[in-house]
Amino acid sequence: MDIKLAPSSLTECKVGLVALPVTEEDLGKKGASPAFDALDGALGGVLRTIARQEDFTGKAGTKLLVHSHGKIPASHVLLVGLGAAEKADLEALRRAAGTAAKEATRVNAGKLAFAVPGRHGTFDEARAATEGLQLGAYRFDKWKSKKDEEKKELKQAFVTGAGLDKDADARKGLELGLAVAEGICFARDLVNEPAMTMTPTQLARAAQAKLKVPGLTVTVHDRKKIEQLKMGMFLGVAQGSREEPKLIEVKYTPRGARGAKAKPVALVGKAITFDSGGLSLKPADAMVDMKTDMAGSAAVFGAMFAIAHLKPDFPVHAYVGSCENMPSGSAYRPGDILTARNGKTVEITNTDAEGRLVLGDVLTYAVQQSKPRVVIDLATLTGACIVALGMTTVGTWSNEDEWAEKVLAAAKQAGESFWHMPLTEEVKENLKSPVADMKNSGARWGGSISAALFLREFVEGNPWVHLDIAGPSTTDKETGYQSKGGTGVGIRTLVELVRSLEA
Ligand code: BES
Ligand code: MN
Ligand code: ZN
Repeated sequence: MDIKLAPSSLTECKVGLVALPVTEEDLGKKGASPAFDALDGALGGVLRTIARQEDFTGKAGTKLLVHSHGKIPASHVLLVGLGAAEKADLEALRRAAGTAAKEATRVNAGKLAFAVPGRHGTFDEARAATEGLQLGAYRFDKWKSKKDEEKKELKQAFVTGAGLDKDADARKGLELGLAVAEGICFARDLVNEPAMTMTPTQLARAAQAKLKVPGLTVTVHDRKKIEQLKMGMFLGVAQGSREEPKLIEVKYTPRGARGAKAKPVALVGKAITFDSGGLSLKPADAMVDMKTDMAGSAAVFGAMFAIAHLKPDFPVHAYVGSCENMPSGSAYRPGDILTARNGKTVEITNTDAEGRLVLGDVLTYAVQQSKPRVVIDLATLTGACIVALGMTTVGTWSNEDEWAEKVLAAAKQAGESFWHMPLTEEVKENLKSPVADMKNSGARWGGSISAALFLREFVEGNPWVHLDIAGPSTTDKETGYQSKGGTGVGIRTLVELVRSLEA
């Protein structure tokens, strides 16, 4: 979809649908919102009446669609609730834009005009609106034989506001929004694709194709290199599948010599393209969605795409170890003892705790290669994290509180829900093995903490942040800018973090 900036005039826009986000205060009394009053006036005052009749008060997550009956060029008028004015932040605006794109698609408007409220600065508003519109219009229908939605394509959207078309900040905001949304849609596509086609080989190819942009280089290593690197845990997980494992590196290098020499930020993403559980096989219900067990890597690739657009003055290096976790005659077994790249031995007590094994080896490699100022991993690591925080919050662990705080601040700015979790030392008892240096899984309680403590053993004392995205990496909701399937969670936070570190 094409997005442009346009000057404010919903009453004159020649589009199928005009959308106005409104706060609860905006609808309160006449004069509270000039934009609403103008639209209401053009429609002969029916907008306020219908809103009252339909009990539409501007609450967040609500909407009201009315026909214009030829009173203005647009055939449809949509009001989208932002909630109470003091809570109507950029995330509320992003969600409203997503709702507008969905409604415009549903009524087959063809073109849409979305008015930004003019309360947050034009860069941020243009960016949030652009992200919301693009993400709201996202669909994954490549596997549908009857694309009946095809005719209902939203072709163009205008982000409107007074003087916006001539505003340099708004233009920059729109461009960043486009890059971020493209990164997120790429990540969603990777996550939504079935495991039969999104194999480690295909994941590597997709990354190579999408990340062929100035500033980025992609390198793909195969099994031989993984063997040379002595990644015994990674190889142990990979050995049960007929699919070849891949180690994928993406490097962003700034143009200037000084920037190129700065300490990199390193990113690591979990990329189990299918997690059957291995010989510790998952029950059917728990296995259905396990094509999404590579969402951490999808977020890392999506973020690298956006970062190439941002062009920070320091390097960013991404590392992804990808394989399938399958049960077979060659699969690793409970009781096996694997030797990690860093020399530690690990007794396998559950082959379904595979993510930490692959991540452990890749984390060691990442810190050795990049000597980063911080390494951040994103992983659909534990069901326990979903039990603790629900489906919408990312669990955040770090061996340095300052880095956790930086990531949490970035998440807040990005409108993503993150929560700081503890590295409770007592839980380490969980991972004691009678026969090896440690085991890969322990008691049920504090399961997401033991996973984090396991990973900490492999970062060689470097500043490290672990993000468990098992819950928020997918959604079953079709609201705001979300749609069923992969969400691309984490990308906006990584982008915000990189932006904050630039300063
Ligand atoms: N990929 C799963 C975690 C997961 C669960 C992600 C649900 C998304 C939704 C991970 O590999 C796993 O199986 N974890 C086990 C660990 C246990 C065996 C220690 C879990 O959470 O049950
Ligand atoms: Mn598993
Ligand atoms: Zn897994």
